Amino acid sequence: MIKRRHLIAGNWKMNLDVKESVKLVESIAPHIADLDEVDVLIAPPFTSLGAVNNAIGNSGIKLGAQNMHWEMNGAYTGEISGPMLKEAGCTHVILGHSERRILFKETDDLIDLKVKAAVVQGLIPILCIGETLEERENGKTFDVIKNQLDNSLLYLRKNNAGMPVSTILAYEPVWAIGTGRTASGEQAQEVHHFIRKWIKEEFNDETAARVRILYGGSVNPDNVADLMSQPDIDGGLVGGASLKADLFIKIMHFQNKLL
Ligand code: 13P
Repeated sequence: MIKRRHLIAGNWKMNLDVKESVKLVESIAPHIADLDEVDVLIAPPFTSLGAVNNAIGNSGIKLGAQNMHWEMNGAYTGEISGPMLKEAGCTHVILGHSERRILFKETDDLIDLKVKAAVVQGLIPILCIGETLEERENGKTFDVIKNQLDNSLLYLRKNNAGMPVSTILAYEPVWAIGTGRTASGEQAQEVHHFIRKWIKEEFNDETAARVRILYGGSVNPDNVADLMSQPDIDGGLVGGASLKADLFIKIMHFQNKLL
């Protein structure tokens, strides 16, 4: 059986100036060495990427961006491209976060273009999907998830090479983001299992066994162990708690709580 390494990723959203960003990385970095089979990634705002990349040094922390445009360059005022992110040191990019879908009207079609660009340009996409509270209460969770997967991974579904096994998916129920209301391990597992089954059907067993599926939405030191003990949950995409070194370090060390 293929064992997937857990990934604990911090999405800093629109928080922290350069000085604060560097301070936070410097607090986290010394705690990476004692992790066992757990990867750590942080996604700071664009303005902090360069300084954070320097501060990461050879600690092993991975660097991601929170969004990107699908073109390499051009007249797209206010946008950032994949090659620019790579130059700043990024290996990963978060795409289709619900805040981008809802507040900035990003559609599955746009997200599909971005996923394609990331893969073609050599960045690992972290594709976010998730239902709203209304959709959950109306029993639409699985339809919404399937729809988002079908449409934002359209390019990869049609691509002869399939989906790179390094691709990361993140299930983030919108009702659990920034609300302090977390999906229970069981609730999240049900959706993660559904997502893995979808990957298996659309691609193949090997891809389904290797692709990591993160959970995001009010992850904190108290609920992380329950979530990470689920068979199809391979890590966390952490918002608020990733801005506080002590909380994020505890989350990274979720295995201590499994003992
Ligand atoms: P919170 O952890 O603040 O709920 O945010 C989750 C999130 O949106 C991560 O991408």
